[in-house]
Amino acid sequence: MPKLTIDNISVEVPAGTTVLEAAQKAGVQIPTLCYMKDVQAIGACRVCTVEVEGARALVASCAMSVSEGMKIKTNTKRVREARRTVVELLLSEHDGDCQTCPRNEDCELQKVAHELGVREIHYPGGKAARYQDHSTPALTRDTAKCILCRRCVTVCNNVQGVAALWPQNRGFKTVVGPAFCHELDDVVCVQCGQCGAVCPVGAITEQDHIGMVWDALDDPAKHVIVQTAPAIRAALGECFGYPPGTRVTGKMTAALRRLGFAGVFDTNFTADLTIIEEGTELLMRLKQVLKPGGNGHGRHFGPLPMFTSCSPGWIKFMEHFYPDMTPNLSTCKSPQQMFGAIAKTYYAQKIGKRPEDLFVVSVMPCTAKKFECQRPEMDDSGVQDVDAVLTTRELARMIKQAGIRFEQLPDEEMDAPLGLSTGAADIFANTGGVMEAALRTAWELVTGRELPFDKLHVAPIQGLEGVKEASAKITGAKPEWSFLEGVELKVAVAHGLGNARKVIERIRSGQAQYHFIEIMTCPGGCIGGGGQPRTTTNDIREKRIAAIYAEDESRKLRKSHENPAVQQLYKEFLGVPLGEKSHHLLHTKYTARARV
Ligand code: SF4
Ligand code: SF4
Ligand code: SF4
Ligand code: FES
Repeated sequence: MPKLTIDNISVEVPAGTTVLEAAQKAGVQIPTLCYMKDVQAIGACRVCTVEVEGARALVASCAMSVSEGMKIKTNTKRVREARRTVVELLLSEHDGDCQTCPRNEDCELQKVAHELGVREIHYPGGKAARYQDHSTPALTRDTAKCILCRRCVTVCNNVQGVAALWPQNRGFKTVVGPAFCHELDDVVCVQCGQCGAVCPVGAITEQDHIGMVWDALDDPAKHVIVQTAPAIRAALGECFGYPPGTRVTGKMTAALRRLGFAGVFDTNFTADLTIIEEGTELLMRLKQVLKPGGNGHGRHFGPLPMFTSCSPGWIKFMEHFYPDMTPNLSTCKSPQQMFGAIAKTYYAQKIGKRPEDLFVVSVMPCTAKKFECQRPEMDDSGVQDVDAVLTTRELARMIKQAGIRFEQLPDEEMDAPLGLSTGAADIFANTGGVMEAALRTAWELVTGRELPFDKLHVAPIQGLEGVKEASAKITGAKPEWSFLEGVELKVAVAHGLGNARKVIERIRSGQAQYHFIEIMTCPGGCIGGGGQPRTTTNDIREKRIAAIYAEDESRKLRKSHENPAVQQLYKEFLGVPLGEKSHHLLHTKYTARARV
């Protein structure tokens, strides 16, 4: 454990700790821009510069490890001037119209410039060339705002394993973007928004749907309803000053009602529905493989292992990189899209409206949901099933635009019937949650025995490890599921597409065999989605996950098949899981895409 001093404060830290981390331990805050905890420390921007006694040049504290006896100064005249110069040089090339920038008041460059006391830019500089890319339904890029910190490049390559972004050209002509300066829509980008979530400035942001939603709310001919994904309630509070991990379900519901939505509903409702459809599909695939004579359903249900299909970035990833394995994806639509299809058919009929009279808004932690809702096959109600998608950040902006004092709102309940859900749906928000929810229902369906509350969590698939596995021997199966008796059910869970790729490669090489695999596009699952409040670290992910499990544990109903509103939906409208109506409204197909 090396001992060192930082601004005369003694500190002892494990070998390998960076000077930046040691300073944080000593209670000294050093500004950063290109650094990302746990992900990138490349020393590119030099704003974290410090003086090391005995060293001639200043050093980047994020990229230097501590050593015994080091004496660090973080607040000398030389350090302050060097940091200011770094920021002034960045600003000299930056398009700095903060008031009209989507990142105004949520911008790391703006904050650092303010904290360092930059009041003048002493270097004339030439402004970076502006190229705006609006090609995708999910994201926009603006090169005039980019400070070349490479955070997006590292996330897209090392975390997501997609490699859609790279530095292009050299020297002053460097820009960050897809190879050969293609537009984002022309390459393998899966529109997950993880690049925008880590971008410190306004260079990559979500396509803004706020104007579209205000227009719909102002249109007397439209019946505008909203669904909110399970991950929103554990993160929205951060936009209003609440600490990460604060559950704000009731206030969020009240805010949506005050914004003018005619129905405030829950994507959790269709998360429960997903479990019924996907769980049944898994059992059919197992039956097809394990029972001589097939599944007895008269339909082929695709091979094993079956992958979950609720994360649209993951679906696009499979379509680009492993199109031969798309039959392994569950055919279930995501809960967002199931909601849209059910809202514009079942619910529309209930309230005496036509599908085209309804305007369905989603609040999602995910930018890829903006892409998903515009997929041409997502129109089974006869019109586009989901009309607009707001990220968590956009919802917070709307609440602020409307002058709603979020912290003063009462807790309110969601509307019935599409607002009723169980704890199993809550945990769709985090890695391991869809699998756990599916196992809660599948186990009871197959054995006919009730799972007690203290046996609901599946510990091996919880937590932030990139790839998790579990297996369990099925015993006591009911006669109709007797082919499962004694079968060792093997499951895996991965989050972040780099980890998904590892799982797929292990399956393809024959190193691993599973029956069922949950994949979520974003690190930590939806709670770490590309549309969530910035900036998400593992500490923040853990707090949001704890909030989600607390939400689940606070419920009286914690298994999807117990949701009375879903039971009613089957009785009144859908018939049976995987039946003709479900097949038409709740299931989908996939498209092979180019690997450019
Ligand atoms: S990126 Fe930040 S500094 Fe630049 S214009 Fe936007 S808010 Fe201002
Ligand atoms: S949206 Fe995701 S895949 Fe696309 S460039 Fe950004 S990080 Fe890469
Ligand atoms: S787009 Fe954002 S994250 Fe990427 S290099 Fe530019 S400033 Fe950094
Ligand atoms: S934050 Fe250390 S060099 Fe950029």
